[in-house]
Amino acid sequence: MPRGVGNSYQTLEPDTAYTYLVNDHWSADAQGQYTFLNLADPTAAIAWPIPLEDAELSDKDRAHPMLADVTPMPPAPILVLGAGGQLGRALVARAAAAGIPVEAHGRDTWDMTDPASWPREHFRGLRAVVNASAMTAVDAAETPEGRAQAWAVNATAAAELARRCTEAGVPLAHVSTDYVFDGTLPVGQEHPVDHPLAPLGVYGQSKAAGEAAVRTVPRHWIVRTSWVIGERKNFVATMASLAERGIDPAVVADQHGRLTFADDLADALLHLVTTDAPTGTFHMTNSGDVVTWHDVARWVFEDTGHDAGRVSATTTAADLAGKEGVAPRPTNSALDLGPLAAVGYTAPDQRERLRDHLSEAAGGTRDTLRVAHVTLFVWHTLILLQKSRLLRENTSGIHRPRKVPS
Ligand SMILES: NC(=O)c1ccc[n+]([C@@H]2O[C@H](COP(=O)([O-])OP(=O)(O)OC[C@H]3O[C@@H](n4cnc5c(N)ncnc54)[C@H](OP(=O)(O)O)[C@@H]3O)[C@@H](O)[C@H]2O)c1
Repeated sequence: MPRGVGNSYQTLEPDTAYTYLVNDHWSADAQGQYTFLNLADPTAAIAWPIPLEDAELSDKDRAHPMLADVTPMPPAPILVLGAGGQLGRALVARAAAAGIPVEAHGRDTWDMTDPASWPREHFRGLRAVVNASAMTAVDAAETPEGRAQAWAVNATAAAELARRCTEAGVPLAHVSTDYVFDGTLPVGQEHPVDHPLAPLGVYGQSKAAGEAAVRTVPRHWIVRTSWVIGERKNFVATMASLAERGIDPAVVADQHGRLTFADDLADALLHLVTTDAPTGTFHMTNSGDVVTWHDVARWVFEDTGHDAGRVSATTTAADLAGKEGVAPRPTNSALDLGPLAAVGYTAPDQRERLRDHLSEAAGGTRDTLRVAHVTLFVWHTLILLQKSRLLRENTSGIHRPRKVPS
């Protein structure tokens, strides 16, 4: 029975038993969240076999509002986990813009590694769960503590989410990564969604384990992505900062992939969940040619008004030479976007979205400068006022006639 659909009945014979199945949509505890309609509502105009004035009705039933006064039942919320991350923040913002109710938790209110403390034991009543949480520190995941953390968040917690979603019959959208592949696919080819998993490092291994757990949920979407750019520290922000500070970077030109803007990834996930799209595994990045990090760095320099020639090309081997504890990176991270397009979502072009992103970031900087300016102005004014007050106080004894004590 879909959410918001009601039922009512009259028994026409004495000693009639009416039995019906109470499913997950009904619970005595949750009655405060339900909506009711008065049985005598004139717009519904139900032709009750026994006129209501002759029927037995509870006081509660008599007191229900007419349709005009009914508060419609709100759509069930989507539970968003990892709400403090790049994707999590974008999910919250994009859902708000689209009027989609969400219940969002960051690490402070929902520690993925401690299921006993999760504020929701049961997931009943949720429209879906979107898991944007992850231990994403690829190099730290190669250390003993990082390895344990990566497995706890990316695999064990994902398995617990999967278990609770299955138990409640709630669909689970889970985000995974290009790092589940070894990247040995020849450059020029894109990984199909069913390409064999062969992660090179701990992060990718733990994410692959998380995928396996999520696949047990009857209704699930596993969305692999790559090179995510959102509000937090990321490659684009780093390059923009280097450009601004006059530092000329050498950037690897032998890792291939596409950028994914967090807002677009959020839109794709919301699309899957709200259209109840066919479940399964999908790839999501922005569209456009497959490029290298070196290409992206050059774009960032260009778009921020700096000379792209300042960015030199290097190789992964040269970049990693002499560095300890660095996780191996896949050479080819290109993902086939076809299956996602087939269920109705095609992401905008990465080059255009990079321009939007950088101009929004510059707008943010301008706003910050404007605020700083205003603050400075206010501060300046306060100092002037203070000075003039002091001046008045200091000079009062000179210019005003002294009060002669009597
Ligand atoms: N970033 C990329 O380039 C990239 C590439 C491919 C795939 N992905 C995948 O895309 C998804 C989103 O990544 P993102 O870029 O948004 O990463 P992110 O910015 O690092 O966000 C991950 C979020 O998970 C949270 N988290 C970590 N451990 C937690 C715990 N024990 N309990 C609760 N929350 C915890 C983090 O909390 P804190 O804020 O407290 O750290 C952070 O807010 C992830 O599944 C990731 O694997 C990312």
